[in-house]
Amino acid sequence: MDRDALLQYRHSKDWEQEADRFRLPNFTYPAYYQTQAFHGITQGYLNPDAAVTYDPVTKYVLPPNEEWVRQGLIDRIRCRPRRILDLGCGTGSMTLRLKQAFPNAEVVGLDLSPYMLVVADEKATQAKLDIQFQQGNAEQTGFPDASFDLVTASLLFHETPPAVSCRILQECFRLLSVGGEVLILDGNQSTLRWADWLTEIFEEPYIKDYAAGSVDAWMGAAGFESIRTEDVFWTNQVTRGMKPLPRSFVMVEPEASTIAEQWAMG
Ligand SMILES: C[S@@+](CC[C@H](N)C(=O)[O-])C[C@H]1O[C@@H](n2cnc3c(N)ncnc32)[C@H](O)[C@@H]1O
Repeated sequence: MDRDALLQYRHSKDWEQEADRFRLPNFTYPAYYQTQAFHGITQGYLNPDAAVTYDPVTKYVLPPNEEWVRQGLIDRIRCRPRRILDLGCGTGSMTLRLKQAFPNAEVVGLDLSPYMLVVADEKATQAKLDIQFQQGNAEQTGFPDASFDLVTASLLFHETPPAVSCRILQECFRLLSVGGEVLILDGNQSTLRWADWLTEIFEEPYIKDYAAGSVDAWMGAAGFESIRTEDVFWTNQVTRGMKPLPRSFVMVEPEASTIAEQWAMG
């Protein structure tokens, strides 16, 4: 990591002024978020240092390499989305890839941290990609029901307590139209369960609880169907689910025997 380049970037802008472009008035941060020093940074993502260091560090912690892991999510998208929401978008690394994969889609990136959004917006501008970045809580986004056909979250759930991840999945369900997809990319829960040393390396307050849980089960509890988790290398996983038709709309096919009986009775 080039320390001088990082320092130069840190001092290249007035972070408070830039962050004001994204800060919502009277915005309340969830308690699990503002009390923790994620990655050992005081105040976690509510410190511009988190935004400055995020990309240079992330490229070393996603084996075999960041491109491969992120492409693991893109490759598992089955729909042709028109409206995409990337929750906990951070510095936008996945959001930009989503827009590149689906250039005609409207893409929104949502995050609690205004500093992460400053970096995300800057990266999108440099790449000439039209993406809307905004501050918000993934548990309660404020978007209307059924307003997206693809919702993603990458590297978010290992940083949220499981109860919060479950509420985020309920919100994804509400936000998706019928047939819409949710894709969650994160650490591989089975690997993290036996590789304790991995959970010790990173200063992540909720990663052990994440490892003990199951994104599959959380997604099922939120109402999703056709749920499937696949390994991305042995360190990461992508879980995909689909929003089904409401039960009241599902046509029940008459049993073949019933049809035969009706024929027999004339
Ligand atoms: C590890 S970063 C992942 C960033 C990005 N998705 C990526 O793939 O690199 C986690 C991000 O989730 C954000 N976050 C955590 N809880 C959130 C919530 N409830 N709503 C929105 N963003 C949240 C943090 O601010 C942080 O930017």
